[in-house]
Amino acid sequence: MSSALFSEINIGGLQLPNRIVVSPMCQYSANDGCATDWHLMHLMQLAISGAGLIVMEVAATERVGRVTHGCIGLYNDANEVALARVLAAAKHVQAKGTRWGIQIGHAGRKASAQRPWEGREALTPEEDPWITEAPSALPFREGWPVPRELAESDFARIRQGFVQAAERAVRLGFDVVEVHAAHGYLLHQFLSPISNQRKDQYGGSLENRMRFPLEVAQAVKEVLPDNVVLGIRITGSDWLDNGIVIEETVELANKLKNIGVGYVCVSSGGIAPARIPHNLDYQIVLAEKVKAATGVPTRAVGLIADAKQAEQIISSGQADLVAIARAFLDDPRWPWHAAAELGVPEKIDYPGPYERCKPALWSRYQAAHPSSR
Ligand SMILES: Cc1cc2nc3c(=O)[nH]c(=O)nc-3n(C[C@H](O)[C@H](O)[C@H](O)COP(=O)(O)O)c2cc1C
Repeated sequence: MSSALFSEINIGGLQLPNRIVVSPMCQYSANDGCATDWHLMHLMQLAISGAGLIVMEVAATERVGRVTHGCIGLYNDANEVALARVLAAAKHVQAKGTRWGIQIGHAGRKASAQRPWEGREALTPEEDPWITEAPSALPFREGWPVPRELAESDFARIRQGFVQAAERAVRLGFDVVEVHAAHGYLLHQFLSPISNQRKDQYGGSLENRMRFPLEVAQAVKEVLPDNVVLGIRITGSDWLDNGIVIEETVELANKLKNIGVGYVCVSSGGIAPARIPHNLDYQIVLAEKVKAATGVPTRAVGLIADAKQAEQIISSGQADLVAIARAFLDDPRWPWHAAAELGVPEKIDYPGPYERCKPALWSRYQAAHPSSR
């Protein structure tokens, strides 16, 4: 048996043992940007999953760029030290060949928010809110605070935040630095006409709206050594009239290709409330269009939970990588079960202490004791 999902790939010089990526997932469990024991548990279980690449949750490039009080950051030395502990432990137990990435980002007007399980609204005056900033003084939605409009003189500081976070990620030993330019956060706020109504050279035409995100990507690329890949998450659609459409995403991806990104991940939505379609391939087709039009290694994401579905996305050439989020929370050994289902269990490097649950040793027991699961 062979499997496209479990085939190797080289992205930007980095060899991955398969096409399965743990999608970045904020755990909202940090203390002032510092990773905690929760992250240790979370990453250590993912480390043995056999995923080709694990991309850690978005780390804020500045304190004001955190979405919530619980977001991790890479804006000071304490953040770096805390993350070093977690990453070292996870690498210590990791499956052979697994590579590590981290997303870096700034929440802009979507910062200063409650954790999802606290309501996901803007922080109230009692919850220690902070002043948010954005390309234009337009709130995320009704009831949210109006952000401070960034002056051009702020841009160097924000760009530098991304650069310094990337430098910290390199020092920590990450193989991939992924810039977050989707989900309605700061760089997406520049890209979308919904949130960017600037009259200067950073607003208006697509070229102008792309200017700052491209400057950031270029600046980050310049500080990455050759063995660290620059990735980026972009949006394929705002799902709103007058919002970003896929043709614009393709143009952006072409510019990013010239900068030298190793891959683009095509997500969508988040710039403002919208009606988002939920057919299984709603986002996969956006990735497919970007890949076909640009040839940039492309990662698809969204509602991928089934092994055969993931296999089909890769084998049909819709995308080069699949990022999986919620299915990994539900089943941190998703690749083990996918490999068994696709008939390639030998692709999984079972850790010795867990070897006895290999399908070959375990399935006979399960067959004899169907209630054991
Ligand atoms: C708990 C949670 C936290 C998330 N945090 C991030 C994040 O830090 N950065 C990001 O780009 N996307 C984040 N996402 C979005 C996921 O990476 C992914 O794009 C989305 O959940 C769709 O994939 P899925 O259908 O496999 O869950 C998060 C999703 C979840 C469920």
